[in-house]
Amino acid sequence: MATRNIIIDTDPGQDDAVAILLALASPELNVLGITAVAGNVPLSLTQKNARIVCELAGFPETKVFAGCEAPMSRTLVTAEHVHGKTGLDGPQLDAPTMPLQDQHAVDWIIETCRAAPAQSITLCPLGPLTNIATALTRAPDIKDAIQEIVLMGGAYFEVGNITPAAEFNIYVDPEAAKIVFEAGVSLTAMPLDVTHKALTTQSRVDAFRNMGTKVGDMTAAWTDFFERFDKEKYGSAGAPLHDPTVIAYLIKPDLFTGRHINVEIETQSELTLGMTVADWWGVTDRTPNCMFMGDLDADGFFALLAERLATLG
Ligand code: RIB
Ligand code: CA
Repeated sequence: MATRNIIIDTDPGQDDAVAILLALASPELNVLGITAVAGNVPLSLTQKNARIVCELAGFPETKVFAGCEAPMSRTLVTAEHVHGKTGLDGPQLDAPTMPLQDQHAVDWIIETCRAAPAQSITLCPLGPLTNIATALTRAPDIKDAIQEIVLMGGAYFEVGNITPAAEFNIYVDPEAAKIVFEAGVSLTAMPLDVTHKALTTQSRVDAFRNMGTKVGDMTAAWTDFFERFDKEKYGSAGAPLHDPTVIAYLIKPDLFTGRHINVEIETQSELTLGMTVADWWGVTDRTPNCMFMGDLDADGFFALLAERLATLG
């Protein structure tokens, strides 16, 4: 089986945690390393949470790096109201014992890409794009090594979740998002338009809980906690499991449908800051720069999740 080399850039976050579990459980993917960024909670917690998840998955040898602790030019906005104070609220978790790598995440991304063959690394940002944009700015030459960027972020038909206009990952660091969307690298986005169709319904959460494994129990406890906010806000039958859609796309792209369109990032207007202005209907002559996903086979997505997570202890 041809494996795909990936770097997961993440701000765990319960949904990030499930995405990391899915990646580590999938033989199609070779996780070169995990880079933590400030987002859902501060960097001191996202780097710790990433290590907790790797140990839970049974992969304590995974290299985890701490990256940027604040957006490129703005004050950090966090989301404890969604994810809890720790970022992984829900179950009781032990502190990690595996080490955090000494090297800064951005330096490691640059070094790893510079040492890699052309188009051999897929970047999987699951949080604000600060680490990725900083690496691209400091070392534009790393674009040669990037096969594609597949990220969770943005919204068009679903509009915003942190403001009426913007999705959280883009909103936290819109300047970083603009750099990534204008980098000219092959780009696929999983916006709220698709993640809001990936709802943690009771039967889907029961599938995790019925695994009878610690991974299944933790995943069920995380989704139970994480979904309370969105179910109340949207009155939906579950919460959107955002970040695992990125990993599922790498494994089974046919689960998803979208359009290759132009997407621009609003960085000037305070009212619509962080909006992904997606030309879904092709009403401009702007150059398409992003495969912007719009729909998924939700049952197929959760079946893949349950199948792969069940292989972990
Ligand atoms: O808007 C949802 C995104 O913001 C997800 O990646 C979630 O983990 C938070 O980072
Ligand atoms: Ca995230």
